[in-house]
Amino acid sequence: LDKAYANGLNTVDALRTEALRMLNDPKAQGGLRAFYDGYLGLDKTLRIEGKDTNPATQTGADFTVTYNNVSSEIMRFASHLTVRTEGTFSDLLLSPKAFVDNKMAAVYGVPASALTNAPTYLNGKEVTLNSSERAGLYTRSGSLVLGGGPKVGLSSPTQRGEHFRKIMLCQQPPEAPGDVEFPELPDPSTKSWVQILKDVHLKDNDNNPNTPNPCVSCHTAFDPIGFAFEHYTLNGQYISRYPSGFAIEPEGWFQALEENKDYDAVTFGDALELSEVLAKSDDAAACFGKTWLNYGLARQVVRSSKDHCAAEQLADNFKTKNYSLRELILEVVSNPSFRFRNPE
Ligand code: HEC
Repeated sequence: LDKAYANGLNTVDALRTEALRMLNDPKAQGGLRAFYDGYLGLDKTLRIEGKDTNPATQTGADFTVTYNNVSSEIMRFASHLTVRTEGTFSDLLLSPKAFVDNKMAAVYGVPASALTNAPTYLNGKEVTLNSSERAGLYTRSGSLVLGGGPKVGLSSPTQRGEHFRKIMLCQQPPEAPGDVEFPELPDPSTKSWVQILKDVHLKDNDNNPNTPNPCVSCHTAFDPIGFAFEHYTLNGQYISRYPSGFAIEPEGWFQALEENKDYDAVTFGDALELSEVLAKSDDAAACFGKTWLNYGLARQVVRSSKDHCAAEQLADNFKTKNYSLRELILEVVSNPSFRFRNPE
């Protein structure tokens, strides 16, 4: 028994040592890229046409971004936090550090002077983004390029919010019903799209409890998350107001869909505040850990299965390790679910 016990420990140690060795190999960047591409839904065909639309600058410069621009920026950022330094989940969400190519520098409004003497890491220039406009992962182009909508060149808060709800909170919003009656929308030249959504999707228009607005119950779960990102165009540029001239209203809230989570009913003023809420949330960190476990196991962690216990154990260990991103990966490979595959 003693020997088996010792062997078991050795196996865990050996796995961790092997994982550490792999992390320090240049190929680790490929693994990180694959994880974050999957997490954010980026694929190699990605290309978002765009011009500088910020009313403040309006240079009309070509801000079209491709897969390579946005995915590489995320990969360098992740590698910096995971391999090069001992970053945490909170750093991932809040750090204004970025490693940019020329296109991303332009889209992020990084002045040329900041690039001249910037050190290079993995072919990206190391810069600090304007912290009144950007925080970590969720405010980077790679997170923002999903969710094109009815507003050309801009985003759909509904689709962005739905996407973010899934990845930030691991929550699947209810499917869109096929049979809802769509109310007539107000003229978009009279209001911003967010104001229209607030009036149409999120308001009980006649205040009669017997005829609740059939849209609210679903849309309140994701539209307000999308609102927080309205300062960013689809390709990730920060704009101070809409090209139409309407003011941006980036305030939103987290509406509970499941049992108690520590972010339920929390309001936020914009994407920066939203990032702060999640950076402090054990539940959001546990969701991120679960997503890594899914990636490690290459299958979804289903509630009823043994993997669910594994996910909980992983979340506990991630927390014990102060949410270190590197430790998370080491935890995933040494997790019992990873080592002993349950029969499928
Ligand atoms: C059961 C949940 C649910 C209900 C109820 C619901 N929706 Fe949705 N709706 C969704 C989801 C999920 C999406 C996003 C995914 C998609 O586009 O398929 C969506 C998308 C939309 C969009 C597209 C938005 C965009 O920017 O692409 C519109 C418009 C919309 N809903 C209007 C309504 C209206 C109006 C009502 C009420 C009459 C309503 N919905 C009721 C779940 C719902």
